[in-house]
This record gives sequence, C-alpha cells and structure tokens, in this order.
Amino acid sequence: MNPLASLQAMKQRGEKIAVLTAYDYPTARLLEESGIDLLLVGDSLGMVVLGYPDTTHVTLDEMVHHTKAVARGVTRVPILADLPIATYETPAQAVESAKRLIDAGAHAVKLEGGTSHVPQIEALVAARIEVMAHIGMMPQSVQIEGGYKVKGKTELEAARLLADAIAVEKAGAFGVLLELVVADVARRITESIKIPTIGIGAGTGCDGQVLVSHDLVGLFPWFTPKFVTQRARIADDIRAAAAAFILATKTGVR
Ligand code: KIV
Repeated sequence: MNPLASLQAMKQRGEKIAVLTAYDYPTARLLEESGIDLLLVGDSLGMVVLGYPDTTHVTLDEMVHHTKAVARGVTRVPILADLPIATYETPAQAVESAKRLIDAGAHAVKLEGGTSHVPQIEALVAARIEVMAHIGMMPQSVQIEGGYKVKGKTELEAARLLADAIAVEKAGAFGVLLELVVADVARRITESIKIPTIGIGAGTGCDGQVLVSHDLVGLFPWFTPKFVTQRARIADDIRAAAAAFILATKTGVR
C-alpha cells in the first residue's frame, strides 16, 4: 500500500498530521519511536546542519546523502525529501532529480511552487513519484524576495494562494505545505481542497503541522522563528556536557 495514503485518510477523519524534519539516522529513529506521522528531509538542513546562510546552497548530492541516513533509521514512517534549488527547472529534470531521492529511500518529494510548477508535478505523477507542493513563503526564493515574508495579507495574494493549492491538487500532488501563510487564508485553503495541508507558521487551521526539529528541541539556538514553541533546550545540555568533560580532562577529576 502507498505509505502516504494514510495521510489523506487522516484528513478525511479530521485527525491532525504531525511532521518533523530529520536529517540523520539517530533523529529519524528517535522521531519514529516517538510516533511521528511523516519525516521531512528538508533542505533546511543547509542551515541547521551544514551552516549555509539559507537553502539556496544545498545540492542534490547533499540531499541524497542525508536521505540515505534517514532511511536507515526508520522502518514504518514515510520519508518526504526536498528537491533542492535548480534541480526541477523542467519536468524532465524534476523526474531525474526525484528518482535520485527515491533511490536514496524517500517515498515522496517536495518542490517549491504552485501553478508555476504544474508541469513538473504532472511529470512526477506520470512517473509514479509522489509529490508535495510547497507554497506561501518559499525559502529557495529568499534572496529574490529579500527575506522571509508572510503571504496572503492582501485579497489578491490570498486568491493566488488558493488558486495555487487547487492547481497542485488537480495536477496530482498528494499534499500542500503552507509556509508563513496568514492563518485565515491557510484555513480557507484547507477547507477548499481534499488533499492534506501541512502548515508551518500558518496557524492551526491546517490538516497538519511541520517544524524543523532543531527549532523544536533547541539545537540551533542562534535563531528560532517566532512561531516555534521550543520544547527542549538541547544546545544547553550539549554545552553543559562539553564543559563538564573539558573540566574533568583538564583537572584529572572524573
Ligand atoms: O526544508 C524544510 O525543512 C522545510 C520546512 C518548511 C519545514 O521545507
């Protein structure tokens, strides 16, 4: 059975979908043990793992490397992997790039774009590759946009977002990620389409929520988005453990 079919069934039942990012084996394994519904190997790994300033530096080889590590950590949870920037410019390129992520262990891929990327989505679906569309704030456009800006503030922008969601559903996407979308607009989109919406900074009206796990557990303490409720402070634990080890080493007292 298609491992993503359960997500559509969850929407129909009104059961919320919990999604977190994972970029490595232990995190993937821990999140599966915690009962997560879907793992995202997001290109956010460029920032929180690789130290790039944004996602525009991430390569397909890097995504493949991390997708393989995540796939080794799970037995049940489906894996969604991001197509990084400049790897889905044409439908043929989208299929070729997506195949590498699927071969690495992903069950589906995500690309940034709505109506503009219907040909890529249709090509992926025709190649039997499950695809999620990412609309609203699209981080791969951050340099062009000059920052991470909330979307759907005007009626025109809201109408465009709704049209994007309807277009990607019609093209065969299995879900839509809504990033930094005004909450009322995200709710309206969610009520207007049959495929699940997964929100990040888009209010509680979506069918599910996704977070970068480093933000959730406080493992990237130098920047935390405003919409994140941090549930742990792992960075503090690492610093404290390292300091204790350094002291023990220097003093010889265990
Ligand atoms: O790359 C990523 O982690 C994402 C976020 C929206 C969760 O796409």
